[in-house]
Order: sequence, then structure tokens, then C-alpha cells
Amino acid sequence: MKTTASTSLLLLSALAFSQVVVIAQSGRPDGRPDGRMRAQRGIAPPRPVAPPQPGRSRFGDPLPGLTAAQLADFAQGRAEFENRESPDGGLGPVFNNSSCVACHASGATGGAGPVTVTRFGRNTPQGFDPLTELGGPLLQMTATDFTGQEIVPFNADVVAHRQSTPLFGLGLIEAIPDATIISNAQRLASDGVRGKFSAVLDPVSNQPRVGRFGWKAQQATLLAFSADAYLNEMGVTSRIFPEENAPNGNPDLLAALDHVADPEDTVDPATGKSDIDASADFMQLLAPPPPLPLTAGAAAGSRIFNQIGCAVCHLPSMTTGLSPIAALSLKPVPLYSDLLLHDMGELGDGIPDGTAGPRDMRTAPLWGLRVSAPYLHDGRAATVDAAIKAHDGEARNARDRYLRLRAMEQRQLAEFLNSL
Ligand code: HEC
Ligand code: HEC
Repeated sequence: MKTTASTSLLLLSALAFSQVVVIAQSGRPDGRPDGRMRAQRGIAPPRPVAPPQPGRSRFGDPLPGLTAAQLADFAQGRAEFENRESPDGGLGPVFNNSSCVACHASGATGGAGPVTVTRFGRNTPQGFDPLTELGGPLLQMTATDFTGQEIVPFNADVVAHRQSTPLFGLGLIEAIPDATIISNAQRLASDGVRGKFSAVLDPVSNQPRVGRFGWKAQQATLLAFSADAYLNEMGVTSRIFPEENAPNGNPDLLAALDHVADPEDTVDPATGKSDIDASADFMQLLAPPPPLPLTAGAAAGSRIFNQIGCAVCHLPSMTTGLSPIAALSLKPVPLYSDLLLHDMGELGDGIPDGTAGPRDMRTAPLWGLRVSAPYLHDGRAATVDAAIKAHDGEARNARDRYLRLRAMEQRQLAEFLNSL
């Protein structure tokens, strides 16, 4: 007992100490003479939101069954998600675009987008080097001042492109218990398919969690992804990621170009929320893609999907756990993914990330496929057919069976996938 008590005391004081450090770090102006506060922003008033009409739901609707207060959070969050950041508001100094919606709009606000971002790194005898000291692993394509413009470092020998994913229904995916995803990974390997769950440390709670968002399942929560996107796509620092990206890793350039005190995202007096929280609210309350009625062709396609082994990875459905939000509590989630990482052979992007090895990719959910072309992590496939043909590694057997289908069966499978 005594040992446990003193150990936890030690842990506690270590925690208190690390908190002091964090406060000291984020408490800028840190002596930087021009550490201005973020400019007060008047964002556009939220567009009105109507609850979805039963049987007539559309892409971009809020979840059915939200309370009036939750609908207001959705509207406010969507306005923040659509808001364009300015340099005075914290944008940059290096960034990829100035709003979330700029890359997430196919079908409706929150959709995928044909935009790709660039990741790089270097393979060394000691393993993969994300070249952080040169601004890696993500390239920011643009800068508030041309002197900050990043380039892919000359010594990078892995350069990969990733396109944005659709965000419809992500609140449901977030509400799937870790244990459910872990149990998917414990199924017996069959047909050459294994699959492993992505173990991450959630930067919001500092707890070990099962990652599920992103092409490598690299984040577990929407708030963590939101904070990550504010920092890495827009250059907006927050309480979760208070440190700015230096242009190609150069601290002098950062000091010269970054004029807004960190963290830049603070509570907006008008809403009482930070931007990272508002955008996370929007994604959490965004309804899943509305399925089309199952035609006879699509029903036949659904059977083929199971028979040729697609459903082993593209698991048709999981169920959420208990949630304080009734619309997310104990709901079916027909996402068509096991949320596991699979060795995709030649299709892998060469970038390891936590549990994910260079060839591992997260099974892409297939719901809403009809509005998210082009396909695959780098958008190389213009059609669903091309996406299936590019499957490799653990998915090779299923792909080969697809190739042997009759033209009519392939059409039925396409009709099914188009209805999800
Ligand atoms: C420059 C384009 C760009 C901008 C701007 C952008 N994103 Fe993304 N988003 C992407 C890409 C690319 C991915 C896939 C990233 C990966 O997995 O490596 C992505 C993935 C995501 C995911 C993971 C979704 C899933 O299916 O698992 C979330 C959540 C997300 N973005 C939220 C946001 C939010 C919130 C903002 C605004 C703060 C934002 N994004 C701004 C390009 C962008
Ligand atoms: C071993 C697991 C596995 C099997 C089996 C599998 N897939 Fe996939 N699928 C994936 C992964 C992983 C991705 C994402 C790969 C990437 O983009 O790099 C993916 C992506 C896709 C995409 C593109 C989705 C998007 O949004 O870009 C489609 C369509 C697809 N799969 C359909 C199928 C069909 C149809 C079958 C059966 C013939 C199948 N898959 C079998 C793992 C699998």
C-alpha cells in the first residue's frame, strides 16, 4: 500500500510539474516583442439548420434526433468549419489552406475533396526519419510571406500524397468503443487477412486509445484531429498543440514571420468556445451519408461483396457505446470498415506512423462513396473499379476474385457500393 501511495504521489507531482511547464510554454507573449493577441474576429453568423426530414435526409444534414441546443452547436460549428482564417487571426506562417471547408466540401460541407497534401521523410538504416528538423513530415504548401515558403527537402527519399477524407458520420465512428475495434483485430486470420488496431496516445486526454481517424488511423478523437488540422493545415495553434510549425524547421524564419501570440485559438467571447471545439462539435453531430434504396441489382451486389471477401475488411457495421448524446448512443454504424490497419503491399504509401508500418493503411469506410471520388489515399483511382483493382497485399485474394467476376456481377457490385 505504502509503495503504491508514494508512487502515485510521485506521479502526481510529476504531473503537476509537467503542467507548470506547459503553462510556461503556452504563456506567450514569451518575450517576443511583437507577440500580438489574435485579432478579434467576427465570423459570419451561422446559417439556419433544420433537422433532417425522415426518409429524405441529405449529405451535410445534422444527425437525426438532436436537441435544439445540439442543433445550435452544429450550426455554430459549421460556421467555424467554413470560416476563413486570416494572418491576424493566426493563419500561418506556413499553411495548406485557410479554412476546413476548402478541403472538405464534396457533396456538402464536411465532405472529401480532391485536394492532396504532401508528406515526406527519409529511410535510414535506423528506420524512417520524418525529417522534423526540416519541417517534416507534412509539407505546408503556402506561407503568409514568400520567404517562409516550404520545399520538400532534397534529402527526402519518400514523398507521398494524401487526399482529404469525408467527415460524414464521424461522431458515430468516434463513439465506437475501443474494445469493439480491438475485438476486430482478434479475429482469426483468414484469406491472408490479419489487421491490427492502431494504438495511439490521445493528445487531448493523454490516455492510450485506439486510433480510428485518418488514412493511418493516427487519431482517436475528433477534438485531437481538429486541433491537429488547425495546426498543420492552417498554422493555428491551440491549447492542445501550442507550438507553431517553423518554415522547413527554421526557428529564425518562424520568429521573423509569426506575429500572433500562441496559443492562437482562444475562447471566442461570442460563442464561449475555441475554434477547435466548435469544429469538433460540427463533425461529431454531422449525420452519416444517406443510403439509397436497395435495388435488386444492389442487393445482388451486396451478396457478391460478402462472397468475394470484401466484407472481411470492409466490415458492414459496428455499434456505438453509451454516449451522453442520445443521437450517438447505442446506434448502428454502417461504415463498411473494421477500422484496422492492413498491409496493402504496393498500395501502401511508405510512411510509417505509430503502429502503422509503411505499407499499412486503415480500411477506408465505404459509406458515401458516390460523392467522394477520386479514391484511395492519394486519389489515384478515378473510379471505384480502379480503386478495387489497385488493392494489393492482404487484399490480393479479394481483388483477384473481383477480377474473375462476370461483367454483370461487377456492375451489380458497383451498384451496391454506389448505394451506401
Ligand atoms: C489542405 C487541405 C485540408 C484542410 C485545410 C483541412 N483538411 Fe482535414 N484532411 C485533409 C487530408 C489530406 C486528410 C487525410 C489526412 C491523413 O490521414 O493523413 C484530412 C483528414 C481529416 C480528418 C480525418 C477524417 C477521417 O475520415 O478519419 C478530420 C477529422 C479532418 N480532416 C478535419 C479537418 C478540420 C476540422 C479542418 C479545419 C481545421 C481540416 N480538416 C482542414 C486535408 C485538409
Ligand atoms: C485486406 C483488407 C481489404 C480487403 C479484403 C478489401 N479492401 Fe478495400 N480498402 C482497404 C484499404 C486499407 C483501403 C484504403 C487503401 C488506400 O487508400 O491506400 C481500401 C479502399 C477501398 C476503396 C476506396 C475507398 C476510398 O474512399 O478511397 C474501395 C472502393 C474499396 N476498398 C472496395 C473494396 C472492395 C469492393 C473489396 C472486395 C473486392 C475490397 N475493397 C477488399 C482494405 C481492404
